[in-house]
Amino acid sequence: MKKIISLISIFFLFLSVNAQKYDQLAKTPPMGWNSWNKFGCNVSETLIMGVADAISSNGMKDAGYEYVVIDDCWQVARDENGEIVVDKDRFPHGMKFLADYVHSKGLKFGIYSCAGTLTCEGRPAGRGHEFQDARTYARWGVDYLKYDWCNTGSQDAKSSYSTMRDGLFAAHRPIVFSICEWGSNKPWEWAGTVGNLWRTTGDISDSWNSMINIFSQQKDLARYAGPGHWNDPDMLEVGNGGMTTEEYKTHFLLWCMLAAPLLAGNDLQNMSPETRTILTNKEIIAVDQDTLGKQAICWRDAGNYQIWIKRLANNEKAVCLLNGSDEKKTVLVDFSLLAKAMSERSQFKLENFKVRDLWEHKDLDLKEASMYIDILPHSVKVYRFIKK
Ligand code: GLA
Repeated sequence: MKKIISLISIFFLFLSVNAQKYDQLAKTPPMGWNSWNKFGCNVSETLIMGVADAISSNGMKDAGYEYVVIDDCWQVARDENGEIVVDKDRFPHGMKFLADYVHSKGLKFGIYSCAGTLTCEGRPAGRGHEFQDARTYARWGVDYLKYDWCNTGSQDAKSSYSTMRDGLFAAHRPIVFSICEWGSNKPWEWAGTVGNLWRTTGDISDSWNSMINIFSQQKDLARYAGPGHWNDPDMLEVGNGGMTTEEYKTHFLLWCMLAAPLLAGNDLQNMSPETRTILTNKEIIAVDQDTLGKQAICWRDAGNYQIWIKRLANNEKAVCLLNGSDEKKTVLVDFSLLAKAMSERSQFKLENFKVRDLWEHKDLDLKEASMYIDILPHSVKVYRFIKK
């Protein structure tokens, strides 16, 4: 009997050791770059090394971008031992070499696979090889794994992703686990203990309609986000050419209001000054990376005109006025009302704050509590209420 009891306790100990994720990861939303939005399957060692060079020298690393992630198409087969085989033509020195190179730039290295039998581009995926692949990734020095949901047939999402989580944990390397199941099985309801971020929708494309449509689908998800577990409205399209500069500013700011992971998806080696200015705006990035880890709430919704509020540490807040319409809007903004918004206590008076415009990098000179403000079409204003 004693033997049985100790066997049972060893079994439960085994379960509790394995059924968990590393808990010190992604305390703020992960930041980095991913190859997919701009390069699709056209990935190579040269590209990744060039991107690592660019991030570490163009102000991106300094602004907080850290993970360099290769998306689909780096893998071609499995060998006779079931080991994943890297495309030797595109990655002649293999993944360990590349990870070492990325690390040598003070950055982290990410890779992609999929919970199904094949990736979305038909490459060999993780199904049945989870623990083996996790050990391989750990050996290579992988720091971030994006795990897709193609070719999964009748697989159960929660248990499929949990298997990979357990594989990663057993591999003894802290690897950020990015769940990419497009919101199909409401991952916000179960993925908090499984991964560090989870996609909430289908793929973004480089257009205003796609971006704003994805944004609108995040409205009810705020309560599921927090340190170590984030809603992921997909990677950034800033700089890819399909939106205007104003629209890219809006896209970037809205993602920061959502406490979204910030994975740039453009060509960092050939970036315009406008794109660089948007992606490296430190005051706006600070809203995303705020340690309280709250996702913004839609506080007022008048269709195309909305006010979003993100609570920040130290009882501060960021307020975003969004004009989603095709016309310029002039709105009368009551800053004393905004100072109180989403806070009950009396100290939330306008006189206790300075109000800073995060695009202009200027404190407002508020002569009156209310002020008329022009907002361009498809544009945003963003103010940070900073404790005096
Ligand atoms: C899916 C994902 C994308 C990308 C591609 C790669 O569509 O949602 O983000 O990873 O697969 O094939």
